Amino acid sequence: MLSEQMLNMLNEQINAELYSAYMYQAMSAWAADQDLKGLSNWMDCQAQEEVTHARMIYEYVQERGGRVLLAAIDGPPTDWDDAVAVAENVLEHEQKVTGLINGLVDQAIEEKDHATRSFLDWFVDEQVEEEDSANDLVATLRLASQSPGGMLMIDRELAARTYTPPAPEED
Ligand code: FEO
Repeated sequence: MLSEQMLNMLNEQINAELYSAYMYQAMSAWAADQDLKGLSNWMDCQAQEEVTHARMIYEYVQERGGRVLLAAIDGPPTDWDDAVAVAENVLEHEQKVTGLINGLVDQAIEEKDHATRSFLDWFVDEQVEEEDSANDLVATLRLASQSPGGMLMIDRELAARTYTPPAPEED
C-alpha cells in the first residue's frame, strides 16, 4: 500500500505529466501557426508521449490500491519569440521534470517503498533521454537559425518523428 505522502506525490506527478502534454500541444499549435510543420509534428509526438507517462503513473497508483485524484491543469504559455525559444523552454521544462522524478525517488527510498522505487526507474532513464533530445533540439535549432534555409531543412527532419508507445511490461 502506498503511503499518503507517496500517493499525493504520484497524483501530483500525473498532473505534472498532463501539464507537460498540454504545454507541448501548445508548442505544436504555435509551430503550426508559424508554418513550421516539422516542429509542430515533433511537439505533437512529445505531447502524446507525456499522456502515456501520465497514464503509466495513473495505472500504477491503481495497481497499488491508491485513489487517483485528478486536479486542474494549469494553462500553458501560448507564445514564444522563435523556434529556438521553444526548444530552450523544452529543455528547461524537462530539467524541472527530472527534479520532480528525483524527488519521488528520494521519497520512495526514504519510505523503503521498493515497489515504487523500482517503478520509477523507467522514469529516471526516460528523463536522461528527454533531456538529451531537448539538448539536441536546442543545438540544432540554434544552428539552423544562423543559416538561410537552415530552418527549412531542419523542419523537414523534425517532420520525420513518429511516436510509438512503450511496449506493455510482461506480467
Ligand atoms: Fe514525462 Fe517529458 O517527461
